[in-house]
Amino acid sequence: MAGLKGSDIISINDFSSSEIEHVFDVADTMSKGTKTINSLLKGKLMAAMFFEPSTRTRFSFEASMHRLGGDVLDFANTESTSVAKGENLADTIRIIDSYSDVIVIRHKYEGAARLAAKFASHPVINAGDGSGQHPTQTLLDLYTIRKAKGNIKGLRVGLVGDLKYGRTVHSLAYALSKIGAKIYLVSPEMLQMPDHILSDINKASIAGKTERLEDVIGELDVIYMTRVQKERFGDLNEYAKVSRAYTITRDTMANAQKDAILMHPLPRINEISADVDSMKNAKYFEQAANGIPIRMALLAMVLGAM
Ligand code: NCD
Repeated sequence: MAGLKGSDIISINDFSSSEIEHVFDVADTMSKGTKTINSLLKGKLMAAMFFEPSTRTRFSFEASMHRLGGDVLDFANTESTSVAKGENLADTIRIIDSYSDVIVIRHKYEGAARLAAKFASHPVINAGDGSGQHPTQTLLDLYTIRKAKGNIKGLRVGLVGDLKYGRTVHSLAYALSKIGAKIYLVSPEMLQMPDHILSDINKASIAGKTERLEDVIGELDVIYMTRVQKERFGDLNEYAKVSRAYTITRDTMANAQKDAILMHPLPRINEISADVDSMKNAKYFEQAANGIPIRMALLAMVLGAM
């Protein structure tokens, strides 16, 4: 990836460590919100194609586009589009591509964003493809870690919860391994990180694997909680067995390092109790807010304005 102009953002693996750093630099500039920044994408249109539910990702993409002076096209729900009439994704993409300058897509099928990119002439940004990847979430996660900790390399990061279906932790594991962080995998037996990801990433970056968060919590610089992805289960009885696997409370945090940071891509269901929110370790709301400078940076970059 030589500069992002005209590029699709489908997988975090398309980014080198220095390209990730460059996105952070542009995001820092975006946070300044100057007049020039506010009109960088004047006259440009972003199509937001969310075929799966979303709050943060969709709103922060839309807010980012507006903050750059651009406009947004979207549909209220999939039922209101011709997809509900049986139109295939390729045709839908071809049409939306001809109406817009950049497409942001979220879809329940792994590989949907990659397929969309094949049929679109404009940049396509993956906002989550099934249990596949969520690269823009990973960039804002890493940005949050870097802001809180100063660096990422060498940090001990616990990925906790649904490592099987969670796309945020799939993308994040690839990136952490590339940057040189130490990953601790914490999940129920049933929800372990898929083998194909483990065999892709650097073996040396996996520092531990356990079902019990209490075994490793004291070693972690970053505790990254995830929701069990109910919508990916074929059998809800199986979901019920693991839905309450981990809950962080003030008591749990008493065993963590004093300056450990606690993250969550949100939405949380029961993974972090509300009384933890006021602790200085809690970074999840700041993490969500960082979606704006990161997505502003990415939109400006793929559209060639930065
Ligand atoms: C995540 C997702 O959609 O993968 N949400 C988000 O984008 N912040 C995590 C989740 O839904 O559990």
